[in-house]
Amino acid sequence: MHCLVCAFITVLMILTSSDAARMMELSYHSLPCLKNVSTRKEVSMFSEIETTFKLPSPLPTWPPGGGFAGGAIDLGGLQVSQVTTFNKIWAANEGGPGNLGATFYDPVSIPQGFSSLGCYSQPNNMPLFGHILVGKDVTNDISNPTLKSPIGYTLVWSSASLNIKKDGDGYIWFPNPPDGYKAVGYVVTNSSQKPALERVRCVRSDLTDSLQSDLWIWGPSKSLNVNGFNVYSSRPTNRGVQAMGATIGGFVVQNGIGGNTLSISCLKNLKGNVVNSMPNLNQIETLIQTYSPVVYMHPDEPYLPSSVDWFFQNGALLYHKGDESNPIPISQNGSNLPQGGSNDDTYWIDLPKDGSSKERVKKGDLQDANAYFHVKPMYGGLFTDIAIWLFYPFNGPSRAKVDFINISLGKIGEHIGDWEHVTLRISNFNGELTSVYFSQHSWGAWVSASLLEYATGNKPVVYSSLHAHASYPKPGLVLIGPAGVVNIGLRDDTAKSNKVMNTGVRPMVVSAEYLGRSLVVEPPWLNYERKWGPKIDYDLNKEINKVEKVMPGKLKKSFDKFVKSIPSEVFGEDGPTGPKVKDSWSGDERA
Ligand SMILES: *[C@@H]1O[C@H](CO)[C@@H](O)[C@H](O)[C@H]1NC(C)=O
Ligand SMILES: *[C@@H]1O[C@H](CO)[C@@H](O)[C@H](O)[C@H]1NC(C)=O
Ligand SMILES: *[C@@H]1O[C@H](CO)[C@@H](O)[C@H](O)[C@H]1NC(C)=O
Ligand SMILES: *[C@@H]1O[C@H](CO)[C@@H](O)[C@H](O)[C@H]1NC(C)=O
Repeated sequence: MHCLVCAFITVLMILTSSDAARMMELSYHSLPCLKNVSTRKEVSMFSEIETTFKLPSPLPTWPPGGGFAGGAIDLGGLQVSQVTTFNKIWAANEGGPGNLGATFYDPVSIPQGFSSLGCYSQPNNMPLFGHILVGKDVTNDISNPTLKSPIGYTLVWSSASLNIKKDGDGYIWFPNPPDGYKAVGYVVTNSSQKPALERVRCVRSDLTDSLQSDLWIWGPSKSLNVNGFNVYSSRPTNRGVQAMGATIGGFVVQNGIGGNTLSISCLKNLKGNVVNSMPNLNQIETLIQTYSPVVYMHPDEPYLPSSVDWFFQNGALLYHKGDESNPIPISQNGSNLPQGGSNDDTYWIDLPKDGSSKERVKKGDLQDANAYFHVKPMYGGLFTDIAIWLFYPFNGPSRAKVDFINISLGKIGEHIGDWEHVTLRISNFNGELTSVYFSQHSWGAWVSASLLEYATGNKPVVYSSLHAHASYPKPGLVLIGPAGVVNIGLRDDTAKSNKVMNTGVRPMVVSAEYLGRSLVVEPPWLNYERKWGPKIDYDLNKEINKVEKVMPGKLKKSFDKFVKSIPSEVFGEDGPTGPKVKDSWSGDERA
């Protein structure tokens, strides 16, 4: 829907462990959009919603200072707090993801003085793990309060005429806001009687912003029918480090394409100053100790991560356009790399020239590799995003599965200097991990904390794919290919091995702009904005011909078509840039 590559690619998921079993269970998921590569997960066969998810270990005591993990955040006359206890109102027991239905809840145990802003909903195929915001007017201004009750309700939808498995009937109501106010959530009831006006509050318009639908929560049929009625999670339309919008964590409904959502809004942090709710340096350290992921490389992986300093010290060279015969060694923390500028092709980094150093550097240095942490505010300072970057000196050739054989694509997909990341999203109300973003090639996926694997304590497990180092929450094989083609795909293989990196050992916080430039000094290499490897020029046809030599004749044609259909961004042909050049540095993750 939102992403460019969606139209071209089908992701084929194979999740069992042995190749033989895989062949039996080939389930080719035709996903028009890549964003649910991983949210799809191993679709459970039974309802998990009856259990409430809790992180494996209790949260630590956060070091003192500021408003981080302080329970409430002031958006400018409107204080918000997060409620995670719910009372079930209504459930559909079929339709939606996995055809397991969805459940609708009211927030309960609302703190004194706060009011509900809307109901929560989630699919039944995962444990209950909800966070919804409640609000409190702290202006003491009776003439212009930040919250007001609705003046009535409009029935948006009811299950009454729907012949599905359901717990009684559900009714979804839109709170009609008074002039100058906006509804930020729906009310759900299990009777046809209109809810009481006191049930929710609407929010003064200047404290609101626009939102859009995100992941599918429910619809009456087992696969998404965009022409019908659907319930989605939501996210602000404008997202990024500077954007001030934040949803309450509720849902939006849509009746058909462009169908009316009766203009539900999200909240907006009017204060614009997010530092108050964000972690200070000590708190960042504790967050890293608590949540730093454990990254498993594939057992066959020859191209492991290294620290950036190791890469420089072991012979990486800086080239300057027009003076290609005089590359220069890079000093320790990159202090002689050109700073700023733009991603033009005037400079680039390459491996050492002599053959044995080159091969050695390609393999990285897992023992002493560092993980690099970038800490940034998200959604008006209600969340802390911690992006964890790993550097791999070399990205191996793409691998393909053609019928039953594994094929290495030679030069295709290879490049020098590979930056990969995962991002933790942490609630600033209590410091709890809510989800993790796994970057995969030129896309990625958010996965709820409730669906992650944990190594020790609350440290999520990340699997790095063989050669390409795409990040996944589960081991196994992911095939990437154009819609409709089922016997050919690019392979992302992931598995546990003893090649493992605990990102919390030797962590380096390289940037936290909101704390000011003097508290966290960025290493010079971070501000090198050109490519970390040369642009690789190869003749695609020639490479394809080489690969096809080992292939049975009848496959050649479809293989040829397949490789040419893959957008070049999947192969990383544009050349590898550093963390700061990626859109996610100041934007939201691309999902
Ligand atoms: C992923 O997208 C497809 C098609 O839009 C849909 O059928 C499927 O339910 C989605 N899965 C999730 C988990 O959103
Ligand atoms: C109906 O909704 C009320 C809250 O309004 C809830 O307490 C009750 O348990 C619900 N009934 C069923 C059968 O879920
Ligand atoms: C293909 O490669 C994967 C990853 O190295 C390996 O596990 C699998 O056994 C290989 N399959 C075949 C048929 O060689
Ligand atoms: C980088 O290294 C040089 C010397 O190798 C040193 O003078 C400089 O302070 C270092 N800069 C940072 C940001 O660590």
